Parts: sequence; structure tokens; C-alpha cells
Amino acid sequence: CGIVGYIGERNAWPIVINGLKRLEYRGYDSSGIAIADTGTFNVYKKMGNVACLENFAKDKNKDGTAAIGHTRWATHGEPSDHNAHPHSSGDGRFYIIHNGIIENYLALKSELVRRGHIFKSDTDSEVLVHLIEEIQQIEQTDLLEATRLALNSVTGSFAIVLLDRLDPSQLIAARRGSPLLIGVGDREYFVASDCSPIAEHCNKVIYLRDNELALLKQEELIIKRLDNVIQPLQMHDLELKLEELEKGNFEHYMLKEIFEQPRIVKDCMRGRIDLKVGQISLEGLKNHTKQLKAAKRILIVGCGTSWHAGLIGEYLIEEYARVPVEVEYASEFRYRNPVIGEDDIVIAISQSGETADTIAAINLAKLNGATILSVCNVVGSSIPRLSDGVVYTHAGPEIGVASTKAFTAQVTVLTLMALFMAQNRGTITSSQLIELQTELSTITSKMQTVLDVNKAVKEIAKRISAFGNCLFLGRGIGFPVALEGALKLKEISYIHAEGYPAAEMKHGPIALIDANMPVIFIATKGPSYDKVISNIQEVKARKGNVIAIATEGDKILKEIADEVIEIPAVNECFLPLLAVIPLQLLSYYAAVMRGCNVDQPRNLAKSVTVE
Ligand code: G6P
Repeated sequence: CGIVGYIGERNAWPIVINGLKRLEYRGYDSSGIAIADTGTFNVYKKMGNVACLENFAKDKNKDGTAAIGHTRWATHGEPSDHNAHPHSSGDGRFYIIHNGIIENYLALKSELVRRGHIFKSDTDSEVLVHLIEEIQQIEQTDLLEATRLALNSVTGSFAIVLLDRLDPSQLIAARRGSPLLIGVGDREYFVASDCSPIAEHCNKVIYLRDNELALLKQEELIIKRLDNVIQPLQMHDLELKLEELEKGNFEHYMLKEIFEQPRIVKDCMRGRIDLKVGQISLEGLKNHTKQLKAAKRILIVGCGTSWHAGLIGEYLIEEYARVPVEVEYASEFRYRNPVIGEDDIVIAISQSGETADTIAAINLAKLNGATILSVCNVVGSSIPRLSDGVVYTHAGPEIGVASTKAFTAQVTVLTLMALFMAQNRGTITSSQLIELQTELSTITSKMQTVLDVNKAVKEIAKRISAFGNCLFLGRGIGFPVALEGALKLKEISYIHAEGYPAAEMKHGPIALIDANMPVIFIATKGPSYDKVISNIQEVKARKGNVIAIATEGDKILKEIADEVIEIPAVNECFLPLLAVIPLQLLSYYAAVMRGCNVDQPRNLAKSVTVE
């Protein structure tokens, strides 16, 4: 879900509604705004995207210099007007917007109901604002104190902002486990769940930390902890360029982000590769070389696309640094009593830096004394702050819900990390290292070449878009690429897709193969090329439709596959950076042809900050 709030001298409506549009990628099943001025107070809520809300409020009174707005991704209660935020206290005085989950809301709700509270929605958020109202009335305190007391009695996660109908000169904000930051302007403050809605208005931010709450007034900003200790204001520069948040000439953010990849991978390597000296330098790891050298085992945790990047990381780290690596879904790791100790290094991978399960996995590993390193895109987000060392991917804001450029940037960072570890552990010769770095530095021009096959991919996507299923197969480092290709296709086109190691096909998926099953093979020249060719033959023998991602000039595949998408020859270890691009494009075009909402696929959220 997305949060944006404003308090100052300007008209708050355009700031908040435009902010919500920028946040739509975080949730879009309903949205709402409460806006206040002395003497006027209005609340508008609408199911659907932010444009629906804007349209609904078109001819209505939108005056006010204080406002809170929310775009929702449903957790408790179905998407509807009445479940949309903001939610009000029983007397309609306080309004809340909330991200996260109040875990003990049912217990709190039944007590409140017993004491006469009547609820209008099914949400946990409404329970919280009723609780604040009750405490405010009983204790006769101000809203800041009532909120503090209420938050001390809830379990779960929250980022909240409150507006008081009777006193619109202040906003109250608080967080635990869900991101929230305060933008500092001139006699005005912004509050938001990420930088994107406020980047055009201010260039200083304060990241709220867990268990902190803030009072925002035109002339005053106070931050305190939930235990009532006042905190110093730690200001950071906001370095987000506005054009990074725009679509430019592209029809969708996802397409723009796919095409940005060569530049992003280049940015990601900048200053980290030194061909003259033949050294990899990673600032975020420089204080951990001792641990990396001594490591007996590395654990990688992440979710979704980041987990796929982790599988590629496993391959690369084992190949070059010769350390055993295990890759785990963060959501599984956190609940299965894993064996982990002080000698372990955990690498957490996350685009947003806010995924709840990944954060929980980190906390568990920390508790057991492991060293936490992270690969992250969003600077200042929770995961880097929890980590002992971080290597940023520098991919810029990723708006399309289906991750593309963040993935290639993660893979680039993991490649650099693998080589960095190899260099420290002496598992690679300096001439090998120079050779690999030289090849890596040419990867971006090859990525550009792959993007140029765009047209051919469009034609193939047309054919795929007519099917209901699709299989993605690969071996070795091509296997996680197949997984990522399948994930992209199902996420945005809603075609059922599965990724499998090509050899495993015989143990199950082969039963599905007939003329209606397109099978996409990662079939580039490399150690398992011949084996993959045999797997292709097996599919062809059962009348499957084969689409092969092949190395430029491959004549055999031209003969046996139904369609071939060529990519330049590349060292096997760098294959994912090239092979994933046609798969991203395939999914994109298939989704467009099926009329799907590419940037905001149904039911998905960009950043899953709840369990
Ligand atoms: C969500 C997104 C995915 C992403 C995953 C992990 O499911 O839709 O694109 O891969 O979360 O997110 P993270 O920010 O931790 O990489």
C-alpha cells in the first residue's frame, strides 16, 4: 500500500492526489484522501485506481492545507469503497491511513465492540483509530500521546498517519516494520511510504525508524520513540531525479525499465571494476573481507525475483569463490528453526528493502550472530539499515510491479560479489580475474544487441498469448533464468507458466506436452548445450512447440526449434544478463496483446511489507 500526507501552506489536494498516482505501483485496489482546513473537512474514497478517486472528487470541495491519502492493496477486507482508507474513529474526529497488519486486531476489536464501538469496515486499521479515540477520551490527552499509548498496546506492523478534524494544524505519523519517511520543505512537511510522491517537492528527508512517532506542524517537527524519548532529527539528502519516475516515451514503465538495463548494469559496475589493476572494489564489503575469507558457508535469502537472483548468485559464488551456498525463500527460512551461527554469512537480496519476510529472516539470522550483507536497490530502506554491509544495485526507482532492471542489477552485483570473494579467498588467478572483468565490461553492449531483437520477440509473443500454459526449461545457470521467465509471464499476462530444470522435465512436466504447450528453452552454447538439445528433441517428439533462446549463428537450433531468438555468445556465467531480456520482452508483449494491465497486474504488489 502507499501513503502520502501533507501539511503546510499550499493546497494539499494536488500534492496528495499526484503523490498517490506515483504510489499506485504499491497498491491499487482502492484509494482515498481526507483533506482539512479550518472549518472544512472532506473525505473521499473510491474503489479502483487513483483516477477513479480523482474523477469521483472532480466537482467536490477539495480545499485544505492538510491531507492524508492512501492507495490500498487489500490484506483484511475485500477491495471496496468502505474498506478504502482513510478510516475514522467512531465520533468521526480522527482519520487514519495505515500500511501493515495489526495482528491482535480481533482481540482489540471485540473489546471495543463490547464497550459500544461500532465499526464501518472490516479492516484492522479502523480498529486502531477507534482505540486511539478511546484512549484520547479516557486519558484526556493530545492526539500524539493517545497514539503513542495505543501503539504500545498493538502487535504487528504499521506505518500510519493521522489527521484530526478538530485540529487540522497537525499530522501524527508512526512506524513499526513498514516504511515511512518525512519530507522536509520550507514551512511544510510531507510524509510518505517512499520517496516517489515527494521527490518533486523537497530535497531533505528523515527516515522514521521502527517504534518512532512524529508530530508534524507547519512550524514544528518532533520525533519520539514509543517509550516517549525524544529523538534527534537526522536529515538526509533526497537524490531522486524526477525523470526517473516518468515513463518518458514508453507505453509502460515495464518497457522503459527493460530498455534501461544496459545503462543500469553499466552504472552498477561503475567504480567497482578496475581493469587496469584487475581489482573489484565493493565499498559495502570492505569491512567484511575477513569474514568473507573465513566463511564456511553462505546463505542467501530473498523472495520472488530476488530469490531467483539468489539462485544465480549461488552458481556464481560457488563457481568462483568455492564456498558452499544455500538459497532460501525468506518466508520459509524464518519459520523453520534453521541451523545458523556466527560463522555464517547471510546475503539478503531485495529490490525494495522492505519485504517483510526478508526482514524477518535477517532478524533471525542476526539473533544467531550471523554477519548480514545485503544487495538492495532502495537507499535508506529497512534492509540496508539492518545489515552489516550493503551493496546497492543503483537501478533507480523500479515502478513496474514485475521486476526487470532490478533483477539484472542484482545479478550484476552478485557477479561482482562472487569475483570480489574469489579475489579475497585466492580462488581465482589474477589473469582469470582480468579476463572475466574484461568480458563483463562488454556485457552492456551485448545487452543492447539483445534489445534490438525486440521485433522478432513481438511476433513470438503473439503466438504465446493465444495459449493458456507455457513451460520454461533451462540447465545450470539457465535454470534460474527459466524460473524468472516463467514468473514474468504468469505475473503480467496471467498465462500459467512453470520453470523447470530441463532434465527434470522427464519426471513430470513431459506429461503436459502436446501441440498446445509452448516450451521455451534456454539453449545457448555452453557446458550443457548437447543435453538441452536432447531435451528439445524429446519435446518435439511429442509435438510441443519449441522456442529456443540460442547463441547467435546456431544452425542446429534453426533446424529443430519452431522459433529461435538469438543472443550474442557470452561466458556462461554472464548468460542470465542476456538471456533474461527476451523473456522479459516476451512476457511484456504477450501481456499487452492479452489486454492486461502490465504495470499493475491484478493482486500483486510491488513491495510486500506484510507477511
Ligand atoms: C513482490 C514483487 C516482486 C519482488 C518480490 C520481492 O512480490 O511483486 O517483483 O520480486 O516482492 O521484493 P523485493 O523488494 O524484496 O525484491
